[in-house]
Formats: sequence, C-alpha cells, structure tokens
Amino acid sequence: MFHLSPQEFASKKEHYASLAEQARHLIAGEPSLIANAANFSALVYHSLPQVNWAGFYLYDGTELVVGPFQGKPACIRIAIGAGVCGTAAHTRQSQVVQDVNQHDGHIPCDAASQAEVVVPLVRADGSLLGVWDVDSPVAGRFDEEDRAGMESLCQVFMAHLDGSKAAA
Ligand code: SME
Repeated sequence: MFHLSPQEFASKKEHYASLAEQARHLIAGEPSLIANAANFSALVYHSLPQVNWAGFYLYDGTELVVGPFQGKPACIRIAIGAGVCGTAAHTRQSQVVQDVNQHDGHIPCDAASQAEVVVPLVRADGSLLGVWDVDSPVAGRFDEEDRAGMESLCQVFMAHLDGSKAAA
C-alpha cells in the first residue's frame, strides 16, 4: 500500500524533493509506461495544493493524445505547436502560464483552470514521449520553483523509462 505523505513542508523545494523521492519509489521495478504514468499522475494530483488536473499527453508520431491523468475529462488530441501543451512539445521547453485567460492559444479543457505548467518529456535518444501537464484553478499558482520542481519530477519519470527500456 502506498501512503501519501501528510506532512507540511518548509518550502516548495523541499516538497518537490519529497515528491520526487515518492515518485521514484512508486514506479521502481515497474516497466509499464501506462501503469507508471497513471500512478505518477495520482501522486502529484493528490499531493500538491490547488491543482485541478495533472496528467500526460503522449506523442503518437503525429500529435499529442491524452494519456493517464487525474481530473475532469480533457481534450483528446492536441497538434504539435498548438496550445500550451503543443508549444512545450514543439519548443521542448517547459511552459509556465500564470493566467490562461491572458494567454493566446491556450486550449481550454476544464473551465476552472486558470494557470498551467507543462513540461516536455524527451527520451534519452532525443525522441519525444509527450508532455506532462498540470492545471490550477488559481491564477499565478505556478512559479519558477514549480517549473523546476515539475522538471525534477519528470526527470525521475524519464530516467526510469529510459532505464527500463535499456534493461528490456
Ligand atoms: N490547456 C492545455 C490543454 C490540455 S488541458 O489543460 C488538460 C493546452 O492549452 O495545451
């Protein structure tokens, strides 16, 4: 049984470091991408405050297709370069949107979402797995510490994926 840690953290940095550790344990030893992506989404969604959507869009060779997530049903397909997710995939740079209402090209899924952070997921061989997307109902919810924290979580996920592939 996996227990979400209930303690309060002195800083965001500390909270993300603890989450990264929990994520590492959660996916250790399991090679299934879908299983790990589903549990990873659940871990983050239930551990971070003020989050209404957390999940994956996976690249199918043409566009991004929604993968395992927590939150309300979302748009299914996003073209590379479209919206915040497609921009992260196209530029391979994390995107932090403070206020989605002020952001041209944002694709609304849940009307409650006001802020968003998206991290591109790139395999060790340089190919695109997809993106990691987290939404908040609070404008300005995500800052540079969140971007760095999300990137460190994604690093744990991708290192495991690349490691399992190498071992397979
Ligand atoms: N807002 C995203 C679409 C995905 S949902 O937030 C889950 C975007 O603009 O790409």
